[in-house]
Amino acid sequence: NVSVVSPAHCVGPDYRPDAQKPTATVSTEIDVNTVHVLPQTPQLIALLTMIRDRDTERADFIFYSNRIIRLLVEEGLNHLPVVGHTITTPVAKTYAGVKFEGKICGVSIMRAGEAMEQGLRDCCRSVRIGKILIQRDEETSTPRLFYEKLPEDIASRWVLLLDPMFATGGSAVMAVEVLKSKGVPEDRIIFLNVIASPEGISNFAKKLPKVRVVTAFVDQGLDHRNYIVPGLGDFGDRFYTI
Ligand code: URA
Repeated sequence: NVSVVSPAHCVGPDYRPDAQKPTATVSTEIDVNTVHVLPQTPQLIALLTMIRDRDTERADFIFYSNRIIRLLVEEGLNHLPVVGHTITTPVAKTYAGVKFEGKICGVSIMRAGEAMEQGLRDCCRSVRIGKILIQRDEETSTPRLFYEKLPEDIASRWVLLLDPMFATGGSAVMAVEVLKSKGVPEDRIIFLNVIASPEGISNFAKKLPKVRVVTAFVDQGLDHRNYIVPGLGDFGDRFYTI
């Protein structure tokens, strides 16, 4: 397994000198031009610190994860093209702005990806949402597609693919293959995740070089069970059950 030393940075508002800021581990830098890592702001690092902490209780885990998911969705939407749109304000002046002209949908990789659906709905009212269930075959250890329910016109939509933990990338690769088999071009898929591993990113980018990835953090690597380290444990368990 690839193991990466994550950089330590002073974190805090710019008006403070570095000597007065705490040092924190920030995301590993990744040189893959389709991968966008959220700016490592003090707020994002504080939110990630909350959800990584094993002592954080479920209600707080949900609350702080939702804040990160909201940031991911907002950034993911920035990767959609816009067209010029000039409007008139209530004081009869024009404003040269933009608007998104296209259709989108969310596709969650069950079960953990479903935790990201509300964040997408909060940004895009009445957005269509599809689902894909992929599970690892116990015997062969390869991912297997169990279920998919996708909007019938998905080929004409931009797809925000949702899965919080981007570990080996096996499920994400299979989910994208399902989308491609329905006619969605690779370059109209944006994969949103909370924490990614360098191994997952490199495996995914080799196979799917046109799919954009938006993540909050690239961690050090994977352990022998393919959990992300330092990670946050099992996202689905922490969000839904513990
Ligand atoms: N899925 C999780 O929930 N956590 C990991 O660390 C890896 C995959």
